[in-house]
Amino acid sequence: MITVQTHHGFYCVKFEPFERSDFFTITDAHVAKLYPNLRVDLILEPGESSKDFVHYQQVIAALADARVQRKSTVVALGGGVIGDLVGFAAATYMRGIRFIQVPTTLLAQVDSSVGGKVGIDLPQGKNLVGAFYPPCEVIVDTRFIQSLPLREFRCGLAEVLKYGLILDQELWNQLIASPLTALSTELSSVIERCIRLKADVVESDEFETKGERAKLNFGHTVGHAIEVRTGYEKYTHGEAISLGMVAESWIAEKMGIAKRGLSEAIQTGLVQNGLPVRGLLGGNPSDLVQSMKLDKKSENGTLVMSLVTDIGTCELVKDVPESVVVEVLSEMSDDAGM
Ligand SMILES: NC(=O)c1ccc[n+]([C@@H]2O[C@H](COP(=O)([O-])OP(=O)(O)OC[C@H]3O[C@@H](n4cnc5c(N)ncnc54)[C@H](O)[C@@H]3O)[C@@H](O)[C@H]2O)c1
Ligand SMILES: [Zn+2]
Repeated sequence: MITVQTHHGFYCVKFEPFERSDFFTITDAHVAKLYPNLRVDLILEPGESSKDFVHYQQVIAALADARVQRKSTVVALGGGVIGDLVGFAAATYMRGIRFIQVPTTLLAQVDSSVGGKVGIDLPQGKNLVGAFYPPCEVIVDTRFIQSLPLREFRCGLAEVLKYGLILDQELWNQLIASPLTALSTELSSVIERCIRLKADVVESDEFETKGERAKLNFGHTVGHAIEVRTGYEKYTHGEAISLGMVAESWIAEKMGIAKRGLSEAIQTGLVQNGLPVRGLLGGNPSDLVQSMKLDKKSENGTLVMSLVTDIGTCELVKDVPESVVVEVLSEMSDDAGM
């Protein structure tokens, strides 16, 4: 088990004992099946489709039916979907009750459980309803990773690689020299490194008002649009972000922000780690651009992206030209008729 303590206390070294009755544990059906002896109070359908209003309402109703009190603690045991959904329910039920994250996927351990963002999706866009609501504790146990299907492990790897690309050249080089697996001896240290990288950025810009935190969104402006346009079903979040990182590094090159050949190098690294670099993007490029304009970083209908300038560094770029985005998406897409 890794315990990391940050100044904001997102992670606590000590796990304070509570009365058992104070907990209300929520998980999804896959995780529940893996731990049949665990007392769980609510089991939800696995998958991104659970991160919606219907399931939010289901969670809130379950809390109310179980007479969960203001001083009770909700435990989100699962991947990013459970963490985001349950965290948002905890943030709003009785105007906010304690919650603890126990992330069970690689993605949730290195990314979604860090930084206090919770929320749900709308058909119009991902995470369009939500809150900043840090959990009181995050308990990261890397043993959960052992049961992850390979595709889900790679999904988390996309975020791990993203940290290398935007913040940590040494991490990227390490992952390219020896790709990480669930059995790697470096797994715990890589997870801890990613948590620290993200926690440092979050501490410098907790509410994403200074432009620092938005840098973590490399690959996500295009990636989220792909997820929306493919109905959140074709790709895992990490796969969509992999496609997004390819597109956005290419955009950076075409804009002259990144050195030539960077996108090619990134693609080689992503392929090596089993992630997609081409594929169906869910529609024509102009439709994707419309979805990107709903992105929370977008300002007055302009495209704002976190773009990698070289491996290990990135900058937030405003006014990314639509024509460049359309050109890159047209070249990358396997969608028919483009
Ligand atoms: N809040 C944030 O800051 C933030 C950051 C990044 C991503 N996210 C969100 O996280 C979500 C993606 O998270 P995810 O990739 O963890 O998806 P997920 O929660 O859907 O989990 C992926 C799959 O793995 C299964 N699973 C979970 N733990 C397992 C285990 N230990 N063994 C076997 N199977 C297991 C789940 O049942 C599911 O089928 C997206 O909704 C994304 O928007 C949020
Ligand atoms: Zn992500």
